Order: sequence, then C-alpha cells, then structure tokens
Amino acid sequence: MTNFTYSTAALEQLQKSDPEIFKALMDEEVRQSEGIELIPSENYCFPEVYALLGSVFNNKYSEGYPGRRYYGGQENTDIVENLARDRAKALFRAEYANVQPLSGSPMNQAVYFGLLQPGDTILAMDLSHGGHLTHGAPVSHMSKIFNFVRYKTEQPSGKIDFDKVRTLAQQHKPKMVLCGFSSYPRELDYASFKKIADEIGALTFADVSHIGGLIAGDALANPMDFGFDVMTTTTHKSLRGPRGGMILAKKQHGPALDKAVFPGLQGGPHMHQVAATALTMKLAATDDFKLYARNVIKNAKILATTLMEGGSQLVTGGTDNHMMVVNTVAWFNLSGDIAEKALDAAGITLNKQMIPDDPLPPLKPSGIRLGTPAATARDMGENEMKQLGGLMLRTLRAADNAATLAKLREETKAICDRFPVPGVTKDRPFDHKARSAA
Ligand SMILES: Cc1ncc(COP(=O)(O)O)c(C=O)c1O
Repeated sequence: MTNFTYSTAALEQLQKSDPEIFKALMDEEVRQSEGIELIPSENYCFPEVYALLGSVFNNKYSEGYPGRRYYGGQENTDIVENLARDRAKALFRAEYANVQPLSGSPMNQAVYFGLLQPGDTILAMDLSHGGHLTHGAPVSHMSKIFNFVRYKTEQPSGKIDFDKVRTLAQQHKPKMVLCGFSSYPRELDYASFKKIADEIGALTFADVSHIGGLIAGDALANPMDFGFDVMTTTTHKSLRGPRGGMILAKKQHGPALDKAVFPGLQGGPHMHQVAATALTMKLAATDDFKLYARNVIKNAKILATTLMEGGSQLVTGGTDNHMMVVNTVAWFNLSGDIAEKALDAAGITLNKQMIPDDPLPPLKPSGIRLGTPAATARDMGENEMKQLGGLMLRTLRAADNAATLAKLREETKAICDRFPVPGVTKDRPFDHKARSAA
C-alpha cells in the first residue's frame, strides 16, 4: 500500500492555519488506526481517493451534464464525469448511470421524484426489519410526500414471505416496489420482487447502498440482471470510494432521472467526488476487488460463527452478506446503546441497532449491527475474525468493568497494529502522536 493521505506540505500549512482542526484530524487518524471499524456502512477508501478529494476539482462549478453545462472550462470535468458514467454502466451492467448525487439520501429522493408523482404508493421493507430512513421512515420528508406501505421479514428465519408481499401489492397497487436495506443480513430474491411488480405494472427499484461493492465484485447477485428498472448505491460503503451516490437504470428512465438530480434537487455537482467515483469504478472492476468482495463475506461468516458459538443470538441466525445483527438484550442483558459504549471502550466500533419489531426505542434498541468491509480492507482474515469475535464476547460479558475494558482495548490495538489502515501507514513522514500533541 502507498503511504499518503494528504500531502505533507498541505498538512504543514494546515497545522499553522488551524491547529485545533489539525489536532482533531491527527487524533482521528490515530482512532481509526488503533481501533477496529466494524460499522457495516463504513470502510477505508482506496488511498488514491484522497488524492482526488483533496484536488483542484473541488474548485469547479459544473452544473449540467457533460457536453451541456451552464459554466465554461469543462474540458477536464467532462472527461472525469464521462469516465465515471461509462465505468459505472459497465461495472453494474446498466444502460444508464448518474454519478452526481451528493450522497445516498438525495440519490433515493431523485429516484422517487424522477419516476413518481407526489402521493404515489411505494411498497418497501419495514424499517425495524432493515429498511433505510429514505424508504419511508415517518421522520423522513419522503414519507410526507409519498405513501409508503411496508412488508416485513419472517422471524426468526429473516426470510421474506412473497405470498404476503404479493397480497400487499395486490391490495395497495404501489407504483414502485422497492427492495434494499441498511440492516438485513440475507440475500434478496430479486426475481420474486420483479415478478410481483410485473403482475401489477409497478416499477422495480433496488437500493443496494450497503452491498454495491459486493455486487460489483460479483460476490452477490446484481438486480440489473433481473431486469430492475432502477438501482441506487452509495459509493463510500463496500465500494471503498468517496462519499456519494449513484443511480443506475434502464435507458428509458434516463431523461427523467437526470432532470430529477439536476436541476430538480441539486446545483453544482461535487466534481472532486465525481472524479474519485470514476477512479473507484475502475478499481472495483479488478480481480483484486473481486477477491476483496469474496473475502468480506467469508470474514462475515467466520465472525458470525464465532459470535454464535460463543453464545450470541444473531438476527436471522447468520449472514449471507457483509453484516450481522446481534440481539444483545437476549444474551447479554445489555441494550444496544450500552453494548455499543462498552465495545467502543474496548476499541471496537459498531452501532446500536433496532431488531425486527423491536420493543425498545431507536436510541436504546435491543441490538447491535456490525460488518466486515473495513476490517477486510485492512487485509484481516480468518484468524483476526476469530480473535475479534472473542474480544467482542469478552467485552459484552464485562461491559461494566472499566479495568477489563481498558485491557481489552490494548488487545484490540495489538491486532490493529499489525494491519495498517490503507493510506495511513506507520512509515509516514511524521509521528501522529507527536503531531497531535503539537
Ligand atoms: C440502504 C441505504 N440507502 C441510503 C442510504 C443513505 O446514504 P447517505 O448516508 O449517504 O445519505 C444508506 C446509508 O446508510 C443506506 O444504508
């Protein structure tokens, strides 16, 4: 791995101009290096991504699309946006791509506004069963504009009963059938969603934000291969790119989706992000990335087995993808927020999580959610998954013992020290701690 995140000259300037922000940045590098990141939506981006995010593309206004912009000076931005779109289409086998969404939430809003009318009905996964906020959470503005009807997963298997989905579809006649999740450890049956949508003439939409990298790496099925109308993915999760989103679709939806993104929702695209997306599409098409995607799932299965053998209850009893959800109340008598805090103290970062039909509230839910994209990007494998699973179990059993948590933190650090964060290596031309104390 290369050893850069930002140029040394830029850092030295930053240290002089804004010592407080400089210190926070150095401390964050230390935090990310010494602890393990198990939040399943997080990752370490490809090191080259930093070069583009910190580049002069940040300075450019490029409202519009390649070849039809509202500002001059677009000869280089047109190149990067065309490359990003063409590479995204090739990678995901899609006829159309829009790489301008600033992040995942505006990307999904653009799909709803582009393909539906206010008041239309969308059939989507229930939130406590794994759906995302933008899939119709009452606190999201989207639920005020569109009418969301929800299907659930069966418990404890986590399977989706397609007879029930069909009954809801026939009853509510949604204009769009949405599948995709933020917290669901199983593979989705895209063929069944498509069949039900076709029966009622609805559009099919897959939000694969979490698993975009696993689809790109051919480790999971691709909804576009099942004839889906539209698919969205964030670029910063399993894809290891810049923060952002992209929309992939059948060609016929292109004009409406382009208009929905710009000028419908956004002004100038973030061209430094678009350039980094182009790079990410190239790197995600390599054999190395295919291996990475397979290893993410392999590691998740090993971690899940370690946790279950150690007495944890996993929602759906395991995982098919990169993530798992643990019911911490059932086995450790800890609500998810307490478990999250204890694990943080032991250097293990993950997030509290609602379980299906959770009787507890979102900020004090019954479980935690974790995953392996970031650990795998550090080249961790079977041994480390077993060690980390063991550390998690010991932490959850000693959640109120500060001395034990401090000891466990040292053990986590010892593992992490052997696996540098991509782009943040020890042989950088400065010492983090010395700089951060400066
Ligand atoms: C399925 C899904 N869709 C959309 C989003 C929104 O992405 P962002 O946080 O970039 O707005 C997320 C983020 O976690 C997600 O999991």
